[in-house]
Amino acid sequence: MITSKELRNKWLKFYEGKGHVNIGAVSLIGDGTTGVMFNVAGMQPLMPYLLGQPHPAGRRLCNVQGCVRTVDIESVGDATHFTFFEMMGNWSLGDYFKKEKTAWSFELLTEVFGLDKDKICSTVFAGNESAPRDDETAELLVKLGIKRENIFYLDKSNNWWELEGTVGTPCGPDNEWFYPLTDKECGREHCDINCPCGRYVEIGNDVYMQYKKTAEGYVPLENKNVDTGFGLDRMLAFLNGLTDGYKTDLFSGAIACLERLSGKKYDDGGDAQKAMRIIADHTRTAVMLIGDVNGILPSNTGAGYILRRLMRRAIRYCRALGVAGSAMQDVAKVFIDEVYGEAYPLLPEKKGYILEEIARETERFEATLEKGTKEFEKTISGLERKNEFMAKQDAAYVKDTKIGGKAAFRLYDTYGFPLELTVEMAAERGYTVDEAGFAEAFKEHQEKSHAQVSAGEFKGGLADTSVATTRLHTATHLLNAALKQVLSPDVNQKGSNITPERLRFDFNFARPMTREEIGAVEDLVNEKIKEDIPVVFEEMPYERAREEGIVGVFDNKYGDVVKTYSIGTFSREMCGGPHAARTGELGHFKIVKEQSSASGIRRIKAVLE
Ligand code: ALA
Repeated sequence: MITSKELRNKWLKFYEGKGHVNIGAVSLIGDGTTGVMFNVAGMQPLMPYLLGQPHPAGRRLCNVQGCVRTVDIESVGDATHFTFFEMMGNWSLGDYFKKEKTAWSFELLTEVFGLDKDKICSTVFAGNESAPRDDETAELLVKLGIKRENIFYLDKSNNWWELEGTVGTPCGPDNEWFYPLTDKECGREHCDINCPCGRYVEIGNDVYMQYKKTAEGYVPLENKNVDTGFGLDRMLAFLNGLTDGYKTDLFSGAIACLERLSGKKYDDGGDAQKAMRIIADHTRTAVMLIGDVNGILPSNTGAGYILRRLMRRAIRYCRALGVAGSAMQDVAKVFIDEVYGEAYPLLPEKKGYILEEIARETERFEATLEKGTKEFEKTISGLERKNEFMAKQDAAYVKDTKIGGKAAFRLYDTYGFPLELTVEMAAERGYTVDEAGFAEAFKEHQEKSHAQVSAGEFKGGLADTSVATTRLHTATHLLNAALKQVLSPDVNQKGSNITPERLRFDFNFARPMTREEIGAVEDLVNEKIKEDIPVVFEEMPYERAREEGIVGVFDNKYGDVVKTYSIGTFSREMCGGPHAARTGELGHFKIVKEQSSASGIRRIKAVLE
């Protein structure tokens, strides 16, 4: 049996022994520079260094970094999906490359972890128009002793690593490592790494990060880097011969706690097991996000909304398991006291605060959960009645199994049900939700609240509130964020004036922008327009806006409520509005002039075409 603590230490010791400096972990919350909300990989905070900037700790780095990936929240509940996990990583910043990296990964797997070299499988990049077939890595692996028949060439969808939905970020082909959980083949013709039976698990990968993703394509980087990531949670299960990730020491305490509270047995499987996994996983992620150095709280926008969604899903499953919502606090205590307190010293420090915030969100949701669930049931039985009635009238009638957008919005607005929760509950009953209708109801509601904003507040640089002006106003927010990203985080708005024809934006910057910088800003704004991100309005206490790093003038007093607009995590500003509902409405953004406005102040004029 290897423990999580031993595994963390073994990883760090091995790479420190190869001249790497342990740089420690950073916040789980994305810094906003990539548009990715959470830290999804160990490489994310190292982006500038992978692109060429020298790192103060040198060219060989390692750490164990917490990551949050929420793309498949709905998959949590099975044996292998988690929303939080730790990535064991190491990096070469233009130092060693494929020869050393293949040798070290091989040494670690065979000598430190005792894996059989004859069973190790590896995949390498098959090549495409952007990068060649990676024969070099394949040959190095064969020389190390990996069987040629255990090496597979796969395409970009498998063996290429990049941060989805970003530009200006480093990326490249990768070499993935696989190992069989058992020697017993499933009976299919080729029970290899591609076999759907899942006999082989991917245990980690080495990315040869030597390209930069641009709007035009992939361009080679000056430095040839290595970016390695091995998932600790998965590796821990695998090294202990477990196929269930919730059986490791990371989760055993949480599961035992839920067994005690519910009187049910995890090993009996079924719905109770699924509920225990969901509660344990989501509580762990909530603890990590609230207790993070840039801790967040549940809210209705951005990262806060994801956190709310996770917590409310967990609370619903507490109910399904037959335990009170306060079970989340008990589970959180186990994670803080018994599992993560040592590796994450901020958690014990913030323990009281974390538990309080979990209790607060639980109370908030529980107050309406029952009523909301009743409302949901009413909607379903309404549809059932209608279907029954119609089927009697018309034999060819096709059953209506879609919950209306307005009903879903009411569940959201009045009862605090995240849309995804309604969708999931509907799916359990064989129904779907009219999500476009939900978006429409949401927008209508937003427009109503905009109308309530006093006309005076619209004046902030806006000539009127026509559709064209509103769109240019949203473009101004994107421009502000793009300038910060391309030029410097110190760039700030110094003035703005918008007419239906064009926007004008003044900001502090000491020199004229280069043609490349202007192009990069335009590309970034257009990229965000293409992503069709919803523009989300939220009122919040100004202290919270400040804590969440929302851009604005903070001369408000304690207790003041401010209006904020968020475009994903890319742009968050205090602002009176009004704005377009989604960035997709804006069209094509173009800078028509960049000139001096005053000493140290530049002025941009831009249009939407
Ligand atoms: N960046 C690589 C990953 O996330 C190592 O898997």
